[in-house]
Amino acid sequence: MATAPHHVMLRRGGYDDLDAVMVVMERAFDAHYGEAWTRSQCAGILPMLGVSLVLAEEGATLIGFSLHRTISDEAELMLLAVDPTAQGRGIGRMLLDQFADACGEIGARRLHLEVRDGNPATHFYETAGFHVAGRRRRYYCGDGGDRIDALTYVKNI
Ligand SMILES: CC(C)(COP(=O)(O)OP(=O)(O)OC[C@H]1O[C@@H](n2cnc3c(N)ncnc32)[C@H](O)[C@@H]1OP(=O)(O)O)[C@@H](O)C(=O)NCCC(=O)NCCS
Repeated sequence: MATAPHHVMLRRGGYDDLDAVMVVMERAFDAHYGEAWTRSQCAGILPMLGVSLVLAEEGATLIGFSLHRTISDEAELMLLAVDPTAQGRGIGRMLLDQFADACGEIGARRLHLEVRDGNPATHFYETAGFHVAGRRRRYYCGDGGDRIDALTYVKNI
């Protein structure tokens, strides 16, 4: 099992962190598939009720983040990304565990997320106990205009 290095710290992020978030976003997601969010999409959702941006930092450097939302007993992981230079060290798992723990503490009983069909991260979520609950056809729009399905994953906690 991947073990997160103990010198990686998680903290709540905000609007002032979006420049650094966008650097990791653009490096982690392949632009070809249309999974990354724009800065204005991130800025627009941050003030909404139940939304949390969580940052993984090594010293002063942002190496990963998650963006999630809890409404009543349902929580959704909207984004999770780790900088390619820091992948495979347990940081994604650390952020995913924080998502489940934090949302569970405020009453979530069911976790949701969407992943592009074909993204290797499907394996990452399956090993964390998520299972496929549905398919959203043509959900992502690639940079060439091609449409790609999303798989909806859920986990009861
Ligand atoms: C998915 C992602 C967040 C994983 O982060 P990470 O820090 O590399 O993952 P971890 O080191 O915590 O790995 C945890 C487990 O998932 C597995 N895993 C992680 N990425 C994987 C991949 N691409 N393919 C297969 N398995 C993977 C690891 O082997 C590990 O398994 P283990 O616990 O049995 O050892 C990262 O690869 C990423 O940022 N990808 C690009 C953005 C993305 O697609 N995000 C998901 C959709 S929102």
